[in-house]
Amino acid sequence: MNADSLHFGASTLSVHAGTHRDESTGGANSPIYTSTAYAFPNPTNENIYPRYFNTPNQRVIARKLAALEQGEDALVFGSGMAAISTLLFAYLKPGGHAAFQADLYGGTQQLVTKELASFGVEISFCRTAEEFAAALRPNTRLIYVESPSNPLLRCVDLSAVAKLGRERGVLTVIDNTFATPINQNPIPLGFDAVIHSATKYLNGHSDVNAGVVVSSTGVIRRLTECATNYGGMLDAHACYQLERGLKTLALRMRQHNENADHLARFLQKHPAVARVNYPGLPDHPDHAIAARQMRGFGGMLSFELRDPAQVDQFLSRLRVVMPALSLGGVESLVCVPSRTSHRLLTPVERQRAGISDGLVRISVGIEDTKDLIKDFQQALAAESGTAL
Ligand SMILES: Cc1ncc(COP(=O)(O)O)c(C=O)c1O
Repeated sequence: MNADSLHFGASTLSVHAGTHRDESTGGANSPIYTSTAYAFPNPTNENIYPRYFNTPNQRVIARKLAALEQGEDALVFGSGMAAISTLLFAYLKPGGHAAFQADLYGGTQQLVTKELASFGVEISFCRTAEEFAAALRPNTRLIYVESPSNPLLRCVDLSAVAKLGRERGVLTVIDNTFATPINQNPIPLGFDAVIHSATKYLNGHSDVNAGVVVSSTGVIRRLTECATNYGGMLDAHACYQLERGLKTLALRMRQHNENADHLARFLQKHPAVARVNYPGLPDHPDHAIAARQMRGFGGMLSFELRDPAQVDQFLSRLRVVMPALSLGGVESLVCVPSRTSHRLLTPVERQRAGISDGLVRISVGIEDTKDLIKDFQQALAAESGTAL
């Protein structure tokens, strides 16, 4: 299906793209190829081995994601961080400079400040396309963006950043985990590479750790060389589970988008809530940018309780929604970023980043909208002084 996959819609691609046809039985699903030893020479004349990232099940995911993100090729990794670290170490060398978005996922932030910096890579942090333009130096090799970002859902103008990268010969990379290829395709907007923590929406069932990079064949060839040496590949069974999860990606995202939109509008009117961060709300500071580059605003949102002292009581009263780390699964989860993703920052750094103690992040699942709203209503009732 890949050759003319651009003619198909995202729902069709989610189901069909990349499937490894089982010619011997005509089965509808890709078989699971468990071998770590493959004959050589073989019909493909390729040296097949799981750590070479080229087994049939790994290639299924690569083809499906390349089709969904409109890239030429892709590589599947054992985690989102394996994808991110392999790409950064493949393209950044001592003496080089990279410009990162200021509000990065905490794990990426740690990798950049603790590991990359210690290898002699110069780092800048930026918030807008204008700040990225101002940060570029003659030795800049890479621009790295997360949009929408965690946990304030800030959005960066992707076309402007991509144009900047093209003009200055700098590789542009985006972590598209929050948006997914259903809501946002950065490659047609001019980005060079798209990363996903496939642990989240792509798999969607909170039971696989995986990562993906989608890009041109040239970038994927370079990444494969590097990845083969680092070794962070995904095994056949996890690839199969991820393929199965991906088949319902478009369907799930429609419900995530719809539920998040309803919940954001409900929370915005609630007296116990001081502020809601959701790019689909007209008063979000980046709503205009998001509306230009996203087809749906996603399943992630955050809100601030008026009284941060009530956070624990609020969490303990939730019945359907589970306080938990991670995101992007079918079940709704909440977490408090000041205690989880941003706990390693000092209170001053957190304040500067806009992360208050009363900030709650929600990964809105695919449950019935009315049940989610009812759950938040009853959990917030105590905070607003309203009887249950
Ligand atoms: C936006 C984002 N990128 C990357 C990662 C890292 O992914 P993984 O946990 O699969 O290594 C995460 C994990 O939470 C994330 O939220």
